[in-house]
Amino acid sequence: MVNNEAVRLIHVFDTTLRDGEQSPGCSMNLTEKIEVARRLERLRVDVLEAGFPASSPGDLESVKAIAALIKDCSVAGLCRALEKDIDAAREALAKAAAPRVHIFLATSPIHMEYKLKMSREQVLERAIMAVQYAKKFCSQVEFSAEDAFRSDPDFVCEVFAAVIGAGATVVNAPDTVGYAIPDEFAAFIRYIKAHTPNMEKARLSVHCHNDLGLACANSLAAISAGADQVECTINGIGERAGNASLEEIVMALQVRKDHFQVETRIDSTQLYTVSRMVSQVTGVKVQPHKAIVGDNAFAHEAGVHQHGVLANRATYEIMTPESVGIPQNRMVLGKHSGRHAFEERLRDLGLSLSEALVEPLFAQFKALADKKKVVSDRDIEALVIELSASVPETWKLDRWVINCGSTLSSTSTIRLKAQDGSVQEQAAVGNGPIDAACKAINRIIGKEPILESYELGAITGGEDAQGETLVKILWKDRHWNGRGVSTDVVESSIKAYLAAMNALEWELSQKPPPAGLTPITGTGGKESKRPLPPAER
Ligand code: KIV
Ligand code: ZN
Repeated sequence: MVNNEAVRLIHVFDTTLRDGEQSPGCSMNLTEKIEVARRLERLRVDVLEAGFPASSPGDLESVKAIAALIKDCSVAGLCRALEKDIDAAREALAKAAAPRVHIFLATSPIHMEYKLKMSREQVLERAIMAVQYAKKFCSQVEFSAEDAFRSDPDFVCEVFAAVIGAGATVVNAPDTVGYAIPDEFAAFIRYIKAHTPNMEKARLSVHCHNDLGLACANSLAAISAGADQVECTINGIGERAGNASLEEIVMALQVRKDHFQVETRIDSTQLYTVSRMVSQVTGVKVQPHKAIVGDNAFAHEAGVHQHGVLANRATYEIMTPESVGIPQNRMVLGKHSGRHAFEERLRDLGLSLSEALVEPLFAQFKALADKKKVVSDRDIEALVIELSASVPETWKLDRWVINCGSTLSSTSTIRLKAQDGSVQEQAAVGNGPIDAACKAINRIIGKEPILESYELGAITGGEDAQGETLVKILWKDRHWNGRGVSTDVVESSIKAYLAAMNALEWELSQKPPPAGLTPITGTGGKESKRPLPPAER
């Protein structure tokens, strides 16, 4: 039984757009980041870390745009303990309703000696300086002792006491390298709480990485030990093995409130759509057996389980699919479905599109329904992504012909339409149909990127499933992603390559994002994250 008086409020600090986005293969473009931020606001996270403003002009711009837009939660910008980084955060967060400057500086012996080349005294002094500097213009200042778990706990307490004295409102103890074991991490957090003299003046936060698969367990152990903020990402994306997964932490706290005696402000019914969206815009799939949001999380395969669930869902379900926002409407949509049913399904899927986009989307749905007997939820999501293209299509696929076989080289002829309506056609020979198509596209656009990765999958099962292709290209040391969907796998491949080329073209032309376009998700073309600046010296 929960004793309500004892229930603590845990703040949820989401870092999908910073720690999540900085991991390989998880990059998002500006429009996609804005849409993810909107979704996180609707999910009711307490803090949304929008990026690392000093790391690149692109990050500065995206934090600026998100700060100006998001009003119902705090927007944080990450900084090293350097005046120039804090100045960049100041600029980026100028329009935020509740800005938070998040400063990090490592405290572990290995980081101080090899990365920072600083002594304990220098780290302490720098941390105080940075917090005081940020505090001049921002009331919410968070200080993270990077690699806290591998640091001397007494030194972490000393640094925390000093930065709280300098005005930090939150102190964060990350397990940066995912080394902790839950009971050890809980003991560490208890120690920090007990031995930081002015701890009651600040919130204690944790930030766990998943290198040993323990990020979520460590975060929960820390909450039990007294941490009052948890840092996490949607789908657990993040550096290396990722961060603690927001949906797993939130649902563990919700389902086992009797045990934890805490609550969050999160609206758990938004979890599924945010998860799907992050997966689609990053092109990083959620594993089917992923807790809470995986395809199989609520699937009951064994006969005995099915029998139990039919008799009483609670026999094998500890939470309902509805509680995490998994749509339960299994009505089949096909070519006879009307606009009303279609719009209702969009709402069920959390894909609330603007009126202007519903009409063309419905037309595309009808065209697809002509090719496929049954249009699944996944097909609809794919159409939405494609329509709400986050990157303007400098080039549109107009026509294509490919010849391939077992003994002769493959040949392709591709015709692309430019934005002014003119068309250009080129033919090429390649090592297979995709290579031939990419070469023809390169000839038209006049660039020869390297096709770094190519992944072909099916959106649903069945003979008439749509093919989904994800590609990554490399050009002049920079990476771009692209995604294409079609009932024809060759066409989905061509579209994916073209989406990546369009992302490249758009980025190079430095055009602002398309005005007024607020897609549910992006279409796939996005530049990957630039490397972060060198560690602080
Ligand atoms: O993992 C880490 O230590 C971080 C800090 C910047 C909070 O991401
Ligand atoms: Zn991290």
